[in-house]
Amino acid sequence: MRHIECEKLSSTDIGRDVVLAGWVFRRRDHGGLIFADLRDITGIIQVVFSPEIAPEAHGIAHEIKQEYVIRVEGTVSRRPEGTENKELATGDIEVYVRTLEVLNTCKPLPFQLEDEEPNESLRLKYRYLDMRRPQVQKVFVERSRAMHVLRNHLVSQDFFEIETPFLTKSTPEGARDFIVPSRLNPGEFYALPQSPQLFKQILMVAGFNRYFQIVRCFRDEDLRADRQPEFTQLDLEMSFVDVDDVIALSEGVVKAVFETLKGVPLETPIMRMDFDEAMERYGTDKPDLRFELPMVELTPFFRETNFGVFKKVVGDGGAIKAIALHGRTLSRKDLDDAVDMAKSMGAGGLIWMRKDAGKLQSPIVKFLSEQETGSTDQTCGLQDGDVLFIMADTRDKVNELMGRFRLYLGTKYDLVRKDTFSFLWVVNFPLLEYSNEEKRYVARHHPFTSAKESMVNFSGDPGSIRANAYDLVLNGVEMGGGSIRNFRSDEQMAMFRLLKIDEEEAVEQFGFLLEALEMGAPPHGGIAFGLDRILMMLLGLESIRDVIPFPKTQKGTCLLSGAPAKVSQRQLNELKIRTVTVKE
Ligand code: AMO
Repeated sequence: MRHIECEKLSSTDIGRDVVLAGWVFRRRDHGGLIFADLRDITGIIQVVFSPEIAPEAHGIAHEIKQEYVIRVEGTVSRRPEGTENKELATGDIEVYVRTLEVLNTCKPLPFQLEDEEPNESLRLKYRYLDMRRPQVQKVFVERSRAMHVLRNHLVSQDFFEIETPFLTKSTPEGARDFIVPSRLNPGEFYALPQSPQLFKQILMVAGFNRYFQIVRCFRDEDLRADRQPEFTQLDLEMSFVDVDDVIALSEGVVKAVFETLKGVPLETPIMRMDFDEAMERYGTDKPDLRFELPMVELTPFFRETNFGVFKKVVGDGGAIKAIALHGRTLSRKDLDDAVDMAKSMGAGGLIWMRKDAGKLQSPIVKFLSEQETGSTDQTCGLQDGDVLFIMADTRDKVNELMGRFRLYLGTKYDLVRKDTFSFLWVVNFPLLEYSNEEKRYVARHHPFTSAKESMVNFSGDPGSIRANAYDLVLNGVEMGGGSIRNFRSDEQMAMFRLLKIDEEEAVEQFGFLLEALEMGAPPHGGIAFGLDRILMMLLGLESIRDVIPFPKTQKGTCLLSGAPAKVSQRQLNELKIRTVTVKE
């Protein structure tokens, strides 16, 4: 229907007769001449309807409105001097139209495509209009490019792209399953996969050596700006590898996508940090290292203190930690705001100190000895004007709250370096964490992760076991995570024992994997990246919804299609399902 796309034209085409088709982005009626910006996937070109050159087309052009779909035939011309548009790639040319055909009309739009930020509900309901906006279209063009690059990169590294089922059994990744009733097996359900974890391990047992898949995963969890109920992973698994192999391969993957989207080199190797250091210095397993503000340990200086609050915390085996804010002048109100913020996060309190004329000032200084203030001052390297925030509580609580408080300070005092991509591997995770709710240990990654020591005859503190696991963090957001797996069934069964999953339950849930591990499973490991999150971060967007073509709202609904929705009684009958309303 057309010769060429709009923005593929340039001044080298002047004099050429072309047929173009697209949408009317803007139309300007100058009495005599009518101008329209014709838009397609490539961009915009100005088309001109002249009453002298093409009276019939000019007549029809009076009728065309925004977003009409038209086809024009005309000649590429240089724009008259002084009328060029520097904003447009095709701004020095225009097409003088000879014939105009209206292919389709368009009703008045629910929002203007040129609006900076239309209402998000409208954007999602009319996603096809939203996607016509060049800045939104660009995101999905970039997404397509990234996926292409990732595929090419992995294929060049001898990976095979192999699909795994969506209608399957539950895989434990820590979220709730979405379940699907089986018509052929009434009363039984499939679970949509939270990840292809078990199947990719089975592919290693099958001898495929290197597997990858760009795959949808489904998790019924509370949604946030970086979480969707269905999201896409770049999932991979490799045989005969250790942690360093998977990390090295992953860095190649991240480099490929980073350099494609950002157009600048990514320095590798990426820095690694032990889980313990991340927790003790930044209070989180995904530190944002675009700014420093580490937590400083003060506990040892207060072993003999007379200050009641500290004394109690130290006596109870807790921790006292500080964050120093250097080179900022904080008013009394700033300090009070900081205390309120810490309390709103759940802190029992927050102590501030300020260094003035070489001495620490604070409402609590009078309770501290010279030695205590001296060691604090020296350890934190304070200069006049610097402020120190101190928290004392159980170690876990201090780490968690000071970690969040650090982020508050980073944002409030503008310490976060802009346009920086701070990648980090967090390694040496604990294998297990204690769940107070379930009164047992649960897997920190997932139950198929291997330990750094054999679990078969393990009799010590389960909390002390370290895992062969790693997470990739970018600017404080988890981009991916993986591990080396248990490839022998005795280790896997030992892990289930640590998790208090008995043999019967293990066999019922994961029997197929356990059986496969007994039939010559090779050592293997892998990783999965949250592709949507990577794109969100690299494209500088705030929400994961911005990089997903048809995302769900916070309430898990699709405003475009209206899902989820009721199904017909006939469908329920076929499934032998009866619904009842349960009062909460
Ligand atoms: P994990 O559960 O850590 O690992 O998931 C891997 C990555 O997927 C992304 N992600 C999400 N993105 C958007 N919405 C969500 N609801 C969501 N949940 C997770 C994150 C995360 O880092 N099978 C293992 C991987 C392995 O061991 O190889 C797994 O799924 O970026």
